[in-house]
Formats: sequence, C-alpha cells, structure tokens
Amino acid sequence: MSLLASDDRNADQVAYWNGPAGERWRARQRDQDTLLAPIAQLLLQQAAPAAGEAVLDIGCGCGSTTIELALRVTPGGRVVGVDISAPMLERARERAPAGLAVDFVQADATAYTFEAGATDLLFSRFGVMFFAEPRKSFANIRRGLRHGARLAFACWREPRRNPWLTLPLEEAYRHVPRLPPSDPEEPGPFAFADERRVRDILEGAGFARVGLEPVDLALDIGIGRGIESALETALGVGPTSRALEGQPPELQAAAADAILAALRRYQVGNVVALPGAIWIVTATNP
Ligand SMILES: C[S@@+](CC[C@H](N)C(=O)[O-])C[C@H]1O[C@@H](n2cnc3c(N)ncnc32)[C@H](O)[C@@H]1O
Repeated sequence: MSLLASDDRNADQVAYWNGPAGERWRARQRDQDTLLAPIAQLLLQQAAPAAGEAVLDIGCGCGSTTIELALRVTPGGRVVGVDISAPMLERARERAPAGLAVDFVQADATAYTFEAGATDLLFSRFGVMFFAEPRKSFANIRRGLRHGARLAFACWREPRRNPWLTLPLEEAYRHVPRLPPSDPEEPGPFAFADERRVRDILEGAGFARVGLEPVDLALDIGIGRGIESALETALGVGPTSRALEGQPPELQAAAADAILAALRRYQVGNVVALPGAIWIVTATNP
C-alpha cells in the first residue's frame, strides 16, 4: 500500500503517523475506540447520517467511525475513509465487515482528488487538525461535496481544558526535557482550539453556517480497567508519548511513576476519569 496523494508541507505528519504514532494507535485501537466512543456518539447524533448517503471520514485512522457510518448509510450509501497512515488503515481494513459499503484510501486529504460533488456528509473525529495549510485542505475536500452537504467534526479545545492530556505531560516533565515550544496553530491535537481560527479556516475554504458547540467531558482513561490501564493510556497517546520517545529507560520509568501517582488522585474503583473538552464543529457546503 502506498500514499496516493500528498502535499510536501504535510511530510512531517506523514512520517509521524506512519512511524511510532501510527503503530501505537494501531496497537491501542480497541482502547482508543472505547475511550473516544462518547465522542463518536455525539458526532454521529449531530451528523445524522441517513440510508443512501455518501460520506467521507477524514483522518479515519483505524476505521471505527468509518464502519459506524457505513452501518448507518446502509442500504444504498457508501463511506470512504481517507488517512495517511498505512498501519492504521491496515487495521481498519482488517476490521471492516465483509460486504459493508466502505472503502479505505491512503492519501493526504489536502492533495487527493475527491470525486467532484459526490458526497453528502464530511465527517471526522479528531482527523483534521494535522494539516499544515488547513484552508487549502478544506477547500480541496469541499470539492468532493455536493451543494448542501453537511460537515461535522470533533476537535480538542485548549490544553488547559484537557487535563487528560496535559496532566500526564506535566508530570513527565519532572523527569524528561520539555518538547520544543510550539506555535498553537501548528498541526497537532490543539491546532483547532481557537474558535475564531476554525471559523476563518472553514469560511475561507468556502463553507457556510459554521457552528462550534463546546462540550465538556469526563474521559475514563482507565477504560473501565483501573489505574494500570490509565497509565497505559497516558503513556501511549498525545504529547506525553512524544516527550518520552527516545528517552533513557530510567527517565521513562521515573516519569511513569510520577504520572501514576498523579492519576491515583482521580481513581474511583476501576474508573480514572479526567476532564476533557471538545468542539463539535458543523457547517454546510453552500
Ligand atoms: C488523532 S488520529 C484520529 C483517528 C480516528 N479518526 C479516530 O478517531 O480514532 C488523527 C488521524 O488523522 C490522520 N491524518 C493526519 N493528517 C492527515 C492528512 N493530511 N490526510 C488524511 N489523514 C490525516 C492521521 O494519520 C490519524 O489517523
């Protein structure tokens, strides 16, 4: 399998999601899907996919939402999941039930030639914050939408509202060097935290009736299995995993101990729920 289309400015993200990050997400697929299931449900409710519709799932990863969407547009509909990550798409293809109207394409959504005007719904769970030039990416994807098509995606709000990602990172920083400071608009989980920026990107790409609804969550990073599982989540995703990558084992172990101690404050039985905050973003293609 190889990347069908890519934009040079996204080369770092292509390397990242085809390297250790893609492998970690593939290995954690079940747990990630359990952790993020409430967000899939909120988005599906908002997007209201209907039988017969054609849907694009951008940054579909291991395919959980792509499959959910395909079940909802049956009969007569179809879903295309687009992603740059070979390991994650491999997992998606393994999981898709035989006969379901779903296709997975390995391509950069910024450069891929979508079938013009063919899609009723553009959907994404956390798959659109990694574009170097988001307005260009959304303008390209919009060419694949019919007039009146809907957009619904989820993205994270500011870091301070997402302790489930930032608390483990701050604990890790007691033992490993800080990641280089990054521009808040750089591709990454928090690139769409700013409401004004998201509106500008989408309106600049030609979308209309842009809406952002804030949703506050309690995310059980223990996935119902308790503190050890919470630690695995904390170490396995987001900026903490990047900060620990390549560090000496003794520093990684010290960071893990510090994270574990901090997470214990949130433990209630097998649940380790930390605050998280997202935008549910909607728009239409005029
Ligand atoms: C945080 S993961 C979310 C995966 C999946 N949507 C989920 O909810 O489990 C972000 C995904 O966006 C994909 N991605 C990043 N840049 C992309 C691009 N330019 N085109 C298509 N997919 C991209 C990554 O490979 C990754 O699978």
